[in-house]
Amino acid sequence: MKKLIAMMTLSMVTGALTTSTFAAQPPQAFVNTLMPQPAHLTVRPGWLPIRQGFAAATDKFQDRRLDDAIMRAMRQLTQQTGVVIGEAMAGSRATLIVSVDGPGEAVQGVHENESYSLDVTPQGARLHAATDVGAMHGLQTLLQLVQNSGRGYFLPAVSIQDSPRFAWRGLMIDCSRHFEPVSVIERTLDGMAAVKMNVFHWHLSDDQGFRIQSKAFPLLTGKGSDGLYYTQEQAREVVAYARARGIRVVPEFDMPGHSTSWVVGYPDLASAPGPFAIQRHFGVFDPVLDPTRPSTYQFIDQFIGEMATIFPDAYMHIGGDENNGVEWAHNPRIQAFMRAHDLKGTAGLQAYFNQQLLPILQKHGRKMIGWDEIMTPGLPKDVVVQSWRGFDSLATGAREGYTGILSAGYYLDHMNSAADHYRVDPLPPGNNLTPAQAARILGGEACMWGEYVDARNIDSRIWPRTAAIAERLWSPQSVNNVDDMYRRLWVESLRLEALGLTQISQESASLRALAGTARISPLQTLAAVLQPVNFGTRGSWSDRHGVTTLMPLDNLVDALPPDPPSRHDFDELMSTYLQNPDARPEQQAALTAIFRSWMEDQPERELLMSESPRLAEALPRASQLTEMGAMGIEAMGYLMSDVPAPAGWKAEKLKVLDEAEQPVALTRFTVAQPMRDLVNEVK
Ligand code: ACM
Repeated sequence: MKKLIAMMTLSMVTGALTTSTFAAQPPQAFVNTLMPQPAHLTVRPGWLPIRQGFAAATDKFQDRRLDDAIMRAMRQLTQQTGVVIGEAMAGSRATLIVSVDGPGEAVQGVHENESYSLDVTPQGARLHAATDVGAMHGLQTLLQLVQNSGRGYFLPAVSIQDSPRFAWRGLMIDCSRHFEPVSVIERTLDGMAAVKMNVFHWHLSDDQGFRIQSKAFPLLTGKGSDGLYYTQEQAREVVAYARARGIRVVPEFDMPGHSTSWVVGYPDLASAPGPFAIQRHFGVFDPVLDPTRPSTYQFIDQFIGEMATIFPDAYMHIGGDENNGVEWAHNPRIQAFMRAHDLKGTAGLQAYFNQQLLPILQKHGRKMIGWDEIMTPGLPKDVVVQSWRGFDSLATGAREGYTGILSAGYYLDHMNSAADHYRVDPLPPGNNLTPAQAARILGGEACMWGEYVDARNIDSRIWPRTAAIAERLWSPQSVNNVDDMYRRLWVESLRLEALGLTQISQESASLRALAGTARISPLQTLAAVLQPVNFGTRGSWSDRHGVTTLMPLDNLVDALPPDPPSRHDFDELMSTYLQNPDARPEQQAALTAIFRSWMEDQPERELLMSESPRLAEALPRASQLTEMGAMGIEAMGYLMSDVPAPAGWKAEKLKVLDEAEQPVALTRFTVAQPMRDLVNEVK
């Protein structure tokens, strides 16, 4: 023991020179947990140990952004391995050489070269990229390659050539319905960088709040934000933080609809007489900017000019969605204007509005992006259309010559599974687009709408599901095995938490707060097989109960992650077992253990829940869990023996499952369908 410590000390002093005296065994085999999967990966024999003396250096181009990215990656490598990574040293002696041709675009553009290659041999690693951004992606791959043998950390010998399938890989966050502090935005950007996403679409205004400071129009936030907004300095900080990670920031100022928060402070912009108040409910509302007055465009011109000094991206998002046209229809002056200009209906007037906006954006050096609804005849072709209504509208746009991105199918607030999102492709197989039309589809964006998220639970709504979307947008289309995606997704989720995201830990923290005790394991068993109801169910419940933005999001449903591991894992376990119950002893044992765990601690669980006003509402879930545990044990007993179930047993259990499938406290079971499959197998 003494000798070992002495050797360790010696190796710490002399670095790489003594490594041969302290060689840990590498792992048996490389386990690929890369997310997103690279375009080309060849695994070779051998391993590069990560140990004292490991250091990184550039050998070609170098600038502050690249140095910072390498330093960040090496700090993270230290955190992952416990090995203190050396200062960058002269190129030829470093373990990792980062060879970059040049900085990339001064303002990262849609067609920035993001490719990289990474070659690891037992002697060292070499990362090559055309730009800083490509190098950043390569560093993320390197961090995801690290393997643990139990005796040390290693990089497998690999050769990777990688570049994205789509150029636009975004995440939209709605910071209007609920405000998200800068710290949340920055840790989200860290997560995006880890999975090679490159656009942060920042939804900064909507009916429920105006979230960016304007010095020209201080009443936008002065009256439209409840004091919850980003200062210009903070917004610039976010833009710089994103750029340092290879991420563009596209701000959205939603107009002409979804604009209540504009007109609270500036009622002259509106199409109806004020006064207006910040909207507290969710949905589509009447306030809409007045497109007939020159003063509206003067205001927008000045505002966009100011925003252009904060957001350097080539694109500005003007929203354009869900204008119900009510105020326009009720305003005789606007109706007369429409007749005079031969503008037909809401769409016609909105097209007119967009045509006035376009030269304003151009004057400030910006291109336009907007939601589906902006695609009206006469819209210039260099506008990007963000399709939230379906692939068909995206394809229609592409046929007509518009570039577009897909968000339909990537709505994180819908509470769908990672698998559901993963199966959505911006260019689905069998689409009938020509190569030129297909090239107009730039990619996609996950959308985190803000009705039911706050700073505490937003990580669990975004992650890890967004990593599956990131893979869909980066990796070759042939990377589509759902089981393998989930295997890697749970590993990626752990890596994301190490960056400071809270999507796993938030559930137990919230359960502790709800129960008022740290002894929550009986609750955790239940929470593990629950998930929130879908968006539609929650939305109609919220409407019936008059839910507002002012109400806290601190109920059981808010603590539960969408698509927890139990859903896919239990489904897979049950379907494997049911293929041949007599010949699946491992699955049988695993299911038995799960069913027993559901039946354990029932009195404690019920006591905890009945003593907490906000958990008591979900009490029926506790007895349903126990019933399902007992049902599972019984069903397997019947399946594995010749004893038939008593008459009426099956009907009775299916009735219990019908009940369990009804929403309770806005929650649903992740395991109800596989339990139904099990019961249905019983003769
Ligand atoms: C949208 O979901 N209204 C873009």
